[in-house]
Amino acid sequence: MNYSEVLENARKNIGPNCQVCPVCNGLACKNTMPGPGSKAPGNGANDNYNAWKKIKLNVDTFVPNTPIDTSTNLLGLKLSFPLITAPIGSIAMQFNPTDDVADFNEKCMAACETRGIFHAYGNGRDQRIWDRAIESGKAHGNNGIPVFNPGTNEGIMGLMDLYKDCLPQAMCVVVDSAGLPHLKTFNGKGGGTKTIEDLQELKAYAKVPFIVKGIMSARTALKAMEAGADAIIVSNHGGRVLSDTPATAEVLPEIVDAVKGANAASRAAGAVSGAAHQTKILVDGGIRSGLDVFKALAMGADACLICRPVLISYYGGGQEGIECYLDKIKAELEDTMYMCGARKIADINRSMIRLPAG
Ligand SMILES: Cc1cc2nc3c(=O)[nH]c(=O)nc-3n(C[C@H](O)[C@H](O)[C@H](O)COP(=O)(O)O)c2cc1C
Repeated sequence: MNYSEVLENARKNIGPNCQVCPVCNGLACKNTMPGPGSKAPGNGANDNYNAWKKIKLNVDTFVPNTPIDTSTNLLGLKLSFPLITAPIGSIAMQFNPTDDVADFNEKCMAACETRGIFHAYGNGRDQRIWDRAIESGKAHGNNGIPVFNPGTNEGIMGLMDLYKDCLPQAMCVVVDSAGLPHLKTFNGKGGGTKTIEDLQELKAYAKVPFIVKGIMSARTALKAMEAGADAIIVSNHGGRVLSDTPATAEVLPEIVDAVKGANAASRAAGAVSGAAHQTKILVDGGIRSGLDVFKALAMGADACLICRPVLISYYGGGQEGIECYLDKIKAELEDTMYMCGARKIADINRSMIRLPAG
């Protein structure tokens, strides 16, 4: 199966809300939901996509002609390339009523296992999703990362308890889902914004690396660090929770500078106290190719997430469709590294890209 066939099949299966464009750029679905679109009145998905396109690559072929190694280590997770497939809470609500997000999670984890990466998963409003995702995680090398919506801390800790006999390798709370109207009454338990203290409590309870998803400024990145986040995900939920936010590629550099500054300060303090807290940076939103992944790493991210195209690939070929898309991203990343003078992930740096003026 090649990627054109994946897209062709997806057009037959995904239902009327997604046109399966040759590149998923938010233009056809615009700001309509249900479906893959953005929150009105703007089009955050398209803004995210365009921002990556404005970043250009600097070619440098004056380097030894040695093999490319895309592997990396993130919070102890071994990734064959720096990508995690992004969480989707419900597909029945967004695409076809009989679609099953648990099957999507299963196919993602199966594909990620064969390709040596991880899958992050959410649950929308259906508690049964966790049970099935936990089973899939066990079957596929424990490569699932649960992403909890911001319900009450008591509710989230109850979900964390489900993992007693098989702790995932990381846990995540998505803070910007506070903007989703249907989650404010999530299972009657409420849900919404979180304080630093709320997140500190969850981090302590998690006992595995703790990730906070939905960071869009240096200020909130530093708050997440204060809460003890081991990693943040720079994300505006694909433009689905608030219109007219900046694109993730636009805010990434200032967030990287703030987090790396705080990491350096913690290392300096750690030289005295013996303990230093280091926070990793992930990013999503409009990343559509291995070239975009390279740009994000050059800006200082440690890894990326991709959501909508992975879902489209699922509709186009299940596990095989997702594998086909992941192979495409990895091959493009390898090619970009080759052409820009990087032989391993740690070589990638800001001199390899050209940011838009201003
Ligand atoms: C249909 C759909 C459902 C989503 N559900 C969730 C969710 O349950 N939890 C979450 O953290 N993010 C959710 N997201 C956001 C994605 O994980 C991701 O942050 C966003 O789509 C940006 O990536 P993309 O531009 O590659 O799609 C959802 C996105 C879409 C399109």
